[in-house]
Amino acid sequence: MKPPDPVAAAARLKKLSRLRPTLGLVLGSGFHHVLTALEIDAKIPYARLPGFPPVGVSGHAGELLIGTLAGTPILVLSGRAHFYEGHPMTLVTFAVRALAAFGIRDLILTNAAGGVNKRFRAGDFMALTDHINFMGTNPLRGAALAGLPRFVDLSCAYDPGLHSLLERAARLSGVRLQSGVYLAVSGPSYETPAEIRAFSRLGADAVGMSTVPETIVARQCGLRVAGVSCITNLAAGRSPQPLSHAEVLETAERVKKLAAQLLKNFAKLYGNSLQKR
Ligand code: HPA
Repeated sequence: MKPPDPVAAAARLKKLSRLRPTLGLVLGSGFHHVLTALEIDAKIPYARLPGFPPVGVSGHAGELLIGTLAGTPILVLSGRAHFYEGHPMTLVTFAVRALAAFGIRDLILTNAAGGVNKRFRAGDFMALTDHINFMGTNPLRGAALAGLPRFVDLSCAYDPGLHSLLERAARLSGVRLQSGVYLAVSGPSYETPAEIRAFSRLGADAVGMSTVPETIVARQCGLRVAGVSCITNLAAGRSPQPLSHAEVLETAERVKKLAAQLLKNFAKLYGNSLQKR
């Protein structure tokens, strides 16, 4: 069977809407509330997009939306495929390639993460300054792709310009925005306290099970990337209580309005910065 073609998926997307956003947003746990502020022009389930992953495990249907957020055109991926579900990395990152082929230039990746840094509290947000890929594989493993770099430079994976827009958006939103290094594990088990101590020594500030594959592929495609974590819990051993998905969901629910405000203000500032370019 032929592998799915991102250009074909992008062609399908172009028929859905006349909007041509350059900003893409991937929603992780805790960030879906922003959809209530989105003026939707088009919405399509992943199941109807060739090559897109089957998702829905986290309770969020896999859907792609095109619309405007705070007046700025935007393409939103609501729901993502995770590596821990058993999908190959090609599937986990396919949507990013389709977005690049569509014309997205700037991608904001959001996720829920455990706080490794002792200064972090549950309910904080963290802008990613860098990452550590601890997933045990790389999404670019496999045959080289024509026209794309084989050995992708990640020395500046997260764009400083987008980071400063995030900081400004956080100030406007009254959000406590930390910044730091996100370490990605494959999951789905949470970490042991010994792993968290080790990750801390390696330089991690937060730990999660997504985002890094998408960042790597986005960088290969030449997109600028920003990452934001919602620190939904203190990482294993950082609090007396055991970790649970219920706690992750509870914190995400508690701060969902702040998360939505942060993204809305980001979209607004992004729109303004486009006009000045
Ligand atoms: N570890 C890994 N992934 C996570 C966590 C965590 O503590 N919290 C939310 N996603």
